[in-house]
Amino acid sequence: MFPDDLEIWLNHFEYHARHPRRIPHGLSDRLTPPERRLIASSLATFQLGEQSQGGALLRAAAHFARRQRLPNLVRITALFIREEQRHAELLRGFMEDHRIPLKSSDWTDRVFRRVRRLAGLELYLHVLISAELIGNVYYRTLEAATGCLRLKVLCRTLVADELAHIGFESHLLLALRARHRAPVRALVRLAHRAFFAGTASVVWLTHRTLLRHCGHDARSFLGLCLAQYAFYLEPAAAPLASTPAP
Ligand SMILES: [Fe+2]
Ligand SMILES: [Fe+2]
Repeated sequence: MFPDDLEIWLNHFEYHARHPRRIPHGLSDRLTPPERRLIASSLATFQLGEQSQGGALLRAAAHFARRQRLPNLVRITALFIREEQRHAELLRGFMEDHRIPLKSSDWTDRVFRRVRRLAGLELYLHVLISAELIGNVYYRTLEAATGCLRLKVLCRTLVADELAHIGFESHLLLALRARHRAPVRALVRLAHRAFFAGTASVVWLTHRTLLRHCGHDARSFLGLCLAQYAFYLEPAAAPLASTPAP
């Protein structure tokens, strides 16, 4: 990537900052009591994951941007964090209207936050893109399964943004990986894939009641997550004919 690519991403995020996502008023908003019970805890965990002040990410991006002379990266990162906060707001609005309790902490969220603070931008991106890829599968699954039109549109709206986030992060991550020598690159790839598969398995375990209701067993959920992973992070290895569209 760089710096021309970053200019394109900056334009993208600036545009979205000027036109923040909204859910149209007047959509049918009926959530049955069994559906509310089914999604409440799971959705609250994802809502928590969307909200972050992003201080550690901003610091890592600023440090990297200074060293590489990429000033746009700092602004892009700030706009990206704002977009994630907007997701948290949209989810919170839906949850409050349906009296779904918010979470202030969850062990999976704490682990994610701790791991990504461990080192610089590259490690942070590896953790972040794992959450984004799995979130993308989760929101699409939820959209297909819910009968509530407002929740369907909300999920689709989040996915639209997450796809751009994943595009940006994979673009940056592959550029960062390309700077390593081949053996290091291979090791990083293996370690990240193992981390990603482990994380997707934990998400399956902790959200399995909802995911099963949406028609997934552990194997199909993991398969979908890994297909997304291959599409964005192993483009040369992904068989085009059998790779689902992102
Ligand atoms: Fe998000
Ligand atoms: Fe995102």
